[in-house]
Parts: sequence; structure tokens; C-alpha cells
Amino acid sequence: MKIVVTGGAGFIGGNFIHYTLEKRPDYKIICLDSLTYAGNMETLASALENPAFRFERVDITDRAEVERVFEEEKPDIVVNFAAESHVDRSIGDPGVFVRTNVIGTQTLLEASRRRGVMRYHQVSTDEVYGDLPLDRPDMLFTEETPLRTSSPYSASKAGADLLALAYFRTYKLPVSVSRCSNNYGPYHFPEKLIPLTIVNALRDKPLPVYGKGENVRDWLYVADHCRAIDMIIHKGREGEVYNIGGRNEMRNIDIVRRIVRELGKSEELITYVGDRAGHDLRYGIDAGKMERELGWRSETPFEEGIKRTIRWYMENRGWWERILDGEYKKYYEKQYGNR
Ligand code: NAD
Ligand code: TYD
Repeated sequence: MKIVVTGGAGFIGGNFIHYTLEKRPDYKIICLDSLTYAGNMETLASALENPAFRFERVDITDRAEVERVFEEEKPDIVVNFAAESHVDRSIGDPGVFVRTNVIGTQTLLEASRRRGVMRYHQVSTDEVYGDLPLDRPDMLFTEETPLRTSSPYSASKAGADLLALAYFRTYKLPVSVSRCSNNYGPYHFPEKLIPLTIVNALRDKPLPVYGKGENVRDWLYVADHCRAIDMIIHKGREGEVYNIGGRNEMRNIDIVRRIVRELGKSEELITYVGDRAGHDLRYGIDAGKMERELGWRSETPFEEGIKRTIRWYMENRGWWERILDGEYKKYYEKQYGNR
């Protein structure tokens, strides 16, 4: 089997490549990634030594380049992780989100249709469902929940989902879509809550918490997400959407406090800052379909996953310290400077 994995120099795509090279040593993986600020070849260092892996610096909106690789490699499966993925950046610059997340997805769908792949999998997010109220813990997103997006990020991801499902209905392209909750784990770019809190705490810098810190996310360890996608592309039904979640809803402030405690730092580092525009209150996922149909279940308890993640950031300082210069510094000052 040959799998094209896009966005593999990023957080979840990189973890998925390591997972698949180990779990399916007879597969060949071709990674397409344009190496935006979020792409990091260091994440793929060990994969690059494996003859079953090939990296191509390709922008998924570049139709000629995508088709060239598909022509050369004739992939059986395509898994699309490539995306602009940060809500805060989408508020400042929505255009690039539409370009990569919508046009890029359509370009990959078209190349997949021409090639006649066995499966095109779209990696989506629970954010396409909008948010849930804080005072209704009984309410959860199911695959039937209407799409009701809040941010340019989630709107562009919803556009991509709908295109993928349209390619199934119209052209019978064997498509699947997964909508996952917030991930955490190794190789996570330090603009997102958990890695940002860890790297700031390790350097005794302020830990920014938006608003009152009461917003709720459902956190899933990244390896559990990778295993879910592996199951869907091999055993999931065509034309179907699968929700993936950790059954682990937590308030942001409790996440930050937990990290502070694990690292033995002072809670005085916690700094409340101005809220995010349009900030989604709560995400809560019903992953019952994955559990019933594919026998998947989140296996990593948060207590264990967060310890593992913190240890990874302590043992891999070089990976994140190199990121903190340059573009990141400018982004950080703009984002948090006078908030
Ligand atoms: P990330 O930002 O860490 O990585 C994105 C990768 O895509 C980077 O390597 C980047 O270089 C690449 N990329 C961006 N634009 C590209 C383009 N035009 N052409 C080729 N490559 C491009 O993102 P992530 O957190 O790993 O998320 C991966 C996917 O999972 C995304 O589709 C995201 O929407 C989805 N998702 C993420 C989460 C989460 O918690 N991080 C949760 C659910 C779903
Ligand atoms: P984030 O990691 O950006 O993921 P998403 O917005 O896709 O859920 O943010 C997770 C939550 O943490 C979200 O409610 C916003 C909040 N947050 C902070 O409070 N401070 C921060 O510095 C960041 C980046 C996020």
C-alpha cells in the first residue's frame, strides 16, 4: 500500500507518520508538506532514515505539483492533515485559511478522483459543530449535529468537509471524514494552549489564559487520534463521518494549573488576558459511532498523557527552542503584547 500523507511535518501528521511506519512496515508513505511556519523537518528526522518514507515539499494548492506526485507514486490512500490550524491566526488573516483548507482540499480531492484512489480521508475537527453551552453537560456533538462554525478556521474546515462529502456523493470517490477534539502530545507547535503553557512554564514566563479560563475542551492524546484514523482508513465505511473524542472535558484554567503543578512552578505565573473574539465556550464529543462500529476507544488517561507530554518537552528542548526565535517571536508579541 502507498499512502500520501499531507501536512506530515506538522503535529498530528508527524505523529501519524511515525505511528504508521511502525505499525505497517510494508507500507510506503509519501509526505507532502509546504513547510509553513508550522512545518518542521526535525519532526520527521527519524522517518527520513527509513526507505519506506519519501518527503516532497509541495503546496497542496499547487495542482500541477500534486498531480506530478500522484502520477509518480500512484497512491492507494490519501490522508489530508495539511491545514492552517490555529484559530487565533485565522482571526488575524483568514485568507490563507480559505486557500489551504478549502482550495487545498479540493485540489487533493480532484487528484484523488483522477487517480482513482481506494480511500481519501479528510482530517477534520469538532470545531465545525460550533460550540455547546457551559451549563448543559448532557449535550454532546454527534455526527448528525448541524455545522455551525464560529471562526474563519472552523468555517474553512467545514467547507473542506462538505467538499469531501460532495466528492463521495457526486463522483463516488471513496471518502471518509473524521472530526476530532483537541489533541495534545509530542511535536505540538507552541502556539496552542498545552505546549505554550509547558514551554512558558519551563522558562518561568507568564502563562496567558483567555477570559476567565472557563472555556472547556475535550483533550485527546495524539496517539489515540492516530490509531483512530488508521482504523477508519482501513475499516471505516465510505461516505461516513466519524467523531473522535477523549471523554475528557476540562476547563482551560484547570489544564494550566495541572501543568504548573506537574512542573513544580508557581501559580503566580498564570496571567488572565483579553478574551479571543468569538471564543467557543465548550466542545463535547460523542464518539459512540467509533466505539460501536470500529471498536475504538481513547486509551491514554489524561494524567498519563500529560506527564508523557511534559517529559517530551523537557527532553526535547532543542526542538522547541529553535522555534521560539524569528517568526514565532513576532507572532507572540503581536498576539500577547498588549492584550
Ligand atoms: P499543524 O499546524 O501542526 O500542522 C499543519 C501542517 O500542514 C504543517 O506541517 C504545515 O507546514 C502544513 N501545511 C500548511 N499549509 C500547507 C499547504 N498549503 N500545503 C502543504 N502543507 C501545508 O496542524 P495539526 O495540529 O497537526 O493539525 C493537523 C490537522 O488536524 C488539521 O487539518 C487540523 O484541522 C486537524 N485537527 C487538529 C486538531 C488539534 O488539536 N491540533 C484537532 C482536530 C483536528
Ligand atoms: P487552542 O490550543 O488554540 O485550541 P482551540 O482554540 O482550537 O480549541 O486553545 C485551547 C483553549 O485554550 C481555547 O479555549 C483558547 C485557550 N487559550 C488560552 O487561554 N490561552 C492561550 O494562550 C491559548 C493559545 C489558548
